[in-house]
Amino acid sequence: MKNESVIKNYDLFDDNVVDNTIRPETIEEYIGQSDVKDNIRVFVSAAKMRNEALDHVLLYGPPGLGKTTLAFIIAHELGTNIKTASGPSIEKSGDLAAILSSLEPGDVLFIDEIHRMPRYIEEILYPAMEDFSLDIIVGSEGNSRNIKIDLPPFTLVGATTRAGDLSSPLRDRFGIINKLQFYTVEELTGIIKRTARVLDILIDDEAAFELAKRSRGTPRIANRLFKRVRDFAMVKGDGKVNLAITEEALNRLKVDKMGLDNTDRELLLAIINKFNGGPVGVEAISSSIGEEVTTIEDVYEPFLLQNGLLKRTARGRVATDKAYEILGITRNE
Ligand SMILES: Nc1ncnc2c1ncn2[C@@H]1O[C@H](COP(=O)(O)OP(=O)(O)OP(=O)(O)O)[C@@H](O)[C@H]1O
Ligand SMILES: [Mg+2]
Repeated sequence: MKNESVIKNYDLFDDNVVDNTIRPETIEEYIGQSDVKDNIRVFVSAAKMRNEALDHVLLYGPPGLGKTTLAFIIAHELGTNIKTASGPSIEKSGDLAAILSSLEPGDVLFIDEIHRMPRYIEEILYPAMEDFSLDIIVGSEGNSRNIKIDLPPFTLVGATTRAGDLSSPLRDRFGIINKLQFYTVEELTGIIKRTARVLDILIDDEAAFELAKRSRGTPRIANRLFKRVRDFAMVKGDGKVNLAITEEALNRLKVDKMGLDNTDRELLLAIINKFNGGPVGVEAISSSIGEEVTTIEDVYEPFLLQNGLLKRTARGRVATDKAYEILGITRNE
């Protein structure tokens, strides 16, 4: 259960009801990711014109960028049902067989964390994805036989934070592979304003912009910080979210101007202070700051790499000059 901490850390909404109401439902409401959206629009229209199931879709990228949201949007745009499962929760071949045989023609089967599906389950998925057929063994030992069940054509949408952990036979069976990117500040501003509208909260443009700048390119973080700032505005102000309240709240939450939080800073400080700036292996960083390797790799590093604060080399992680600069540390030569 190594990845469990990733999920816990990133299940940042304590309130699923709110999460569901602010989740965009149509492709028009889904802000940003324009390349991915353009592709999906074309492939969905083509599938509908041919009256076929959409080819299988793999969505990958760091947590909170909108993979699950997009899977639901794909089903919405196709006008079909969506059934959901998560890789680690499918333990028995019968579990997968039950889900597959409950599908109706054209339905979407969404498997979250698909890289954590056991290998023997994956093997059942291959013929299901390729030929829409299910090969299962029935009966007890000594008296077992293979039976083949035809499945309706369906679309598998797989989501993962670690595309590299997917076996290549599985990866090869996806016709459409999309990588989600971090969002720009403008896009996040739009997402925050949309959330404010949905939740009926007033927010200034400059407050939305400030929040967006500090959200690590991630809608889930933007929405979470927005909710916390709203709490401050309700208790300390008149409920309206302005720049002063936003800055005060974010400072209290220890989210800095770039959006780095305590763990980001601890990670960079560990590399700088304990390992002389690196290179250092991720395992050593992990034991030094007490975060799982997978959490460091999936949750923290992508943003630090993207923003030039960290480099990955063959010999390990290195803190960049920019990291020293923003932490106000002079490099010892
Ligand atoms: N493009 C977007 N426009 C508006 N809101 C978005 C967008 N993408 C994501 N969100 C919001 O961010 C939240 C997180 O998105 P989602 O749960 O889809 O991320 P995820 O990539 O599946 O994360 P994980 O890897 O942790 O499963 C959603 O509740 C949704 O409200
Ligand atoms: Mg998800």
